[in-house]
Amino acid sequence: MHIVVTGGAGFIGANFVRRTVDTRPDVRVTVLDSLTYAANESSLDEVRDRIDFVKGSITDPAVVDEVIAGADAVVNFAADTHNDNSLNDPWPFLDTNIRGTAVLLDAVRRHDVRLHHISTDEVFGDLPLDTPERFTEDTPYRPSSPYSASKASSDHLVRAWVRSFGVRATISNCSNNYGPYQHVEKFIPRQITNVLSGARPKLYGAGLNVRDWIHVDDHNDAVWAILDRGAIGETYLIGADGERSNREVLGMILEAMGRPADDFDAVPDRAGHDLRYAIDATRIRRDLGWEPARADFAQGLADTVNWYRDNPSWWSPGKAGVESAYARREASDV
Ligand code: NAD
Ligand code: TYD
Repeated sequence: MHIVVTGGAGFIGANFVRRTVDTRPDVRVTVLDSLTYAANESSLDEVRDRIDFVKGSITDPAVVDEVIAGADAVVNFAADTHNDNSLNDPWPFLDTNIRGTAVLLDAVRRHDVRLHHISTDEVFGDLPLDTPERFTEDTPYRPSSPYSASKASSDHLVRAWVRSFGVRATISNCSNNYGPYQHVEKFIPRQITNVLSGARPKLYGAGLNVRDWIHVDDHNDAVWAILDRGAIGETYLIGADGERSNREVLGMILEAMGRPADDFDAVPDRAGHDLRYAIDATRIRRDLGWEPARADFAQGLADTVNWYRDNPSWWSPGKAGVESAYARREASDV
């Protein structure tokens, strides 16, 4: 089997490629990644001699055409992914997430290649705090930010190409991932690397917002379950019952790192900040027999803290630039 992994130098994509190379020696992997600021080529160092790597954009029809010709499947992780950046400048999000997905769809249609499109639970908007309500595959789309609206658009395009042109595609919408190789702009790595660099963690607002955390390896195992056994045209929600408030997660990070519970700064809240996400993953559990294997969040978080502690050369080059961009944003918000 030959798969093309777009966005394979990013957080989830690189973990997917590493895991695939380690556990499925019969699968040939080609990574297509344009190496934006969010990519880190060194995430693929240990597997580099066992994959093909193409630097190029999913928005470039000629490159996409050449890379996917003859492949069995494309797994599309490529996206612009940070909500805060999408509030600052939505345009790259619209280009990669919407137009790039359309370019991929056009190519997989012409070459009759299977597509699995990676998406997010943020397409559903948010849920109230403290209700039992969770997202299912039937929840209406109600995205809040330019990022989530662009991902929602890409999902709609995939469904339209399935129905109108018979493209062989599946979609998954996963909750918030954590684990190694995640960019330091995101919540968990930002706080861990702040502590490691002697700075205080930064909590938006009162920290009551809830995210439904899943270990990146559990997400990627679910993606393989869909590639192996998923029904064409189907959507699967992926989540591991990991709901926690940001305040609670930050408390666990501070405790794991031996810092006092109040050793953080409350900073201005994100505009339009989604309150709560929660996934009902009944369909993928029941139909595909997938189960999260790393459901112990405290252990996963401790492993993640240790990974960032052990790998400063991976994250430190970009850290100062990310923090000065955040500081500029905070200053303009007050
Ligand atoms: P990331 O920002 O860490 O990595 C994105 C990768 O895509 C980078 O390597 C970047 O260079 C590449 N890329 C961006 N634009 C490109 C383009 N035009 N052409 C080719 N490559 C391009 O993102 P991530 O957190 O690994 O997310 C991967 C996917 O999973 C995204 O589609 C995202 O929407 C989805 N997702 C993420 C989460 C999460 O918690 N991180 C949760 C659910 C779904
Ligand atoms: P983030 O990692 O950006 O993911 P998403 O916006 O896709 O959920 O943020 C996770 C949560 O953490 C979100 O509620 C915003 C919050 N947050 C902070 O409180 N402080 C921070 O420094 C960051 C980056 C995020």
